[in-house]
Amino acid sequence: METNTAPKEDGTDRALRDAMVDELRSWGGVTTVQVEAAMRTVPRHVFVPDAPLEQAYGPDSVVTHRDENGTAISSASGVGVVSGMLEQLDVQPGHRVLEIGAGTGYNAALLAELAGPEGHVTTVDIGADIVAGARRGLAAAGYDRVQVIHGDGAAGHPENAPYDRIIVTAGAWEVPPTWREQLAPDGRLVVPLRIRGVTRSVALELSGDVWRSVSIDECGFMPMHGPEAVAELNQELPVNSGVWIRVDDGHPVDADAFAAALTGAPSLAWSGVVVPWQPLVHLDFWLVGATAQTCRVLVADRAREAGLVDPIYPWGSMGCYTSDSFAYLVRRPAPSDTAQEMVELGACAYGPDGERLAGEVADRVRSWGMARARDELAALRMEVHPEGSADHPAAMITADKARSRVFVICG
Ligand SMILES: C[S@@+](CC[C@H](N)C(=O)[O-])C[C@H]1O[C@@H](n2cnc3c(N)ncnc32)[C@H](O)[C@@H]1O
Repeated sequence: METNTAPKEDGTDRALRDAMVDELRSWGGVTTVQVEAAMRTVPRHVFVPDAPLEQAYGPDSVVTHRDENGTAISSASGVGVVSGMLEQLDVQPGHRVLEIGAGTGYNAALLAELAGPEGHVTTVDIGADIVAGARRGLAAAGYDRVQVIHGDGAAGHPENAPYDRIIVTAGAWEVPPTWREQLAPDGRLVVPLRIRGVTRSVALELSGDVWRSVSIDECGFMPMHGPEAVAELNQELPVNSGVWIRVDDGHPVDADAFAAALTGAPSLAWSGVVVPWQPLVHLDFWLVGATAQTCRVLVADRAREAGLVDPIYPWGSMGCYTSDSFAYLVRRPAPSDTAQEMVELGACAYGPDGERLAGEVADRVRSWGMARARDELAALRMEVHPEGSADHPAAMITADKARSRVFVICG
């Protein structure tokens, strides 16, 4: 296979790279001159040598490794997520940076650009072949000063600590104490943190032993692996239906009961909340704050086309469940006075408890709608406390992890 490890003599890689950054700028994906300059400089195609140039400079993630079941386990992340997280991280010249999730090495090269010759970048990956690929890419692009370590990022890399910045580029369920121990005073951690199935890129700073968020952005990430990782469980309803329930925190669900529920008539509850179609800022957190267990309902195109379920996003919707029933978020078109597409949000539920669950989800949507109308959504923040800490009096969500307590607070 032809590979792309060298700059193209006709300058196509430069032109495509500039077009990629121009596109990011056009929608606010890049706002700082530092991140913009780094992204115009680092040759992304060198880090994904098997991808065609157009794909290397496209917006989407480029999968580079899959496990024996075909599940993606490593990729160059989508450039909008990369730039957004770098802006959250705010790397300064001279910083010492730790990245967890070296992947292709592309983001480590961007970090090296931002930290400059006086800074230092360490990047860790759990996959031995992935580490070898990252080293190859970094050397080919001229960033061999980046140190690539094979190991479990949950342990950080104490040998090069303290770090001014730590960035995690795989989905984390936990914020282990090691990251706190290896961070310099006034340092910052950016991590895609999963809270009951909702993943957000959170920039956190330390105040004593408590992490407090300074920004929270939408993102999606393949999960971290390793002995400390907690996987989400996927259950298809029934097998080959193209509908899955995904639950977090190791909770098992009775897929047979949900499959039986899916054969009955749905209960629908419309909330009366009419909003522009996207972004539905922080709505998922209001649903997670519901009393029932929360889940995600995932859908393949074939199941949607067959009329089985119709969740709001292409991948599915947030939802909730009991032992034999589940509900998920739906939308329907609403009148609009402008060119902006408007939708009404609601819930669709199946099973003996479906009517009550649908009503509960619609109530949560109304509660979110009121917070939105009062302009309270920007005040949403997170705190991560050590395990065993007291309850937070203002927490909307309390997520107990193995070694920490995560609080989501609004107001
Ligand atoms: C989305 S990729 C990272 C993308 C990368 N930053 C880049 O620029 O190409 C996620 C990576 O995290 C790694 N990973 C997963 N669990 C890990 C762990 N516990 N410690 C270190 N790396 C891990 C995976 O092997 C994978 O390469």
